[in-house]
Amino acid sequence: MSFEIKVNGAIKSVDVDGDTPLLWVLRDVLGMTGTKFGCGMALCGACTVHIDGVATRSCITSIDSIGASAVTTIEAIGATPAGGKIQKAWVDREVPQCGYCQSGQIMSASALLASNPHPSDADINDAMSGNICRCGTYVRIREAIKQAAQGG
Ligand code: FES
Ligand code: FES
Repeated sequence: MSFEIKVNGAIKSVDVDGDTPLLWVLRDVLGMTGTKFGCGMALCGACTVHIDGVATRSCITSIDSIGASAVTTIEAIGATPAGGKIQKAWVDREVPQCGYCQSGQIMSASALLASNPHPSDADINDAMSGNICRCGTYVRIREAIKQAAQGG
């Protein structure tokens, strides 16, 4: 079945089954491999993208549920005001270790900062609790979000 979806500001045509997860459309059809597969069950956050600005697990989001909504991925988040600040803080604080979870972490943090420019610790906990890091970079993630909230 043919679908048109808006990804990072561009309309893309894809021919897949309607129940295909957005994650696999991004990675396998569109070749955008910055969004990662971790659990496939909405438990780890590695696959996080934005749909109309809201952090969303792409592994459980079927392509036929997206409609005209705007999808933003890690490849383009740096061009948004909040995403730019988050990425700079991530680099300054040397947040990643192995890196596997980090695109999802950045997408969740960017959505948080865009909706809440001065998040409290509790706000950060709420927004980031679904993003798992096996390398334990949580302290640096929190520091980077706070740096970004102070203007980068
Ligand atoms: S791969 Fe989607 S939440 Fe883990
Ligand atoms: S940096 Fe390795 S899993 Fe998070």
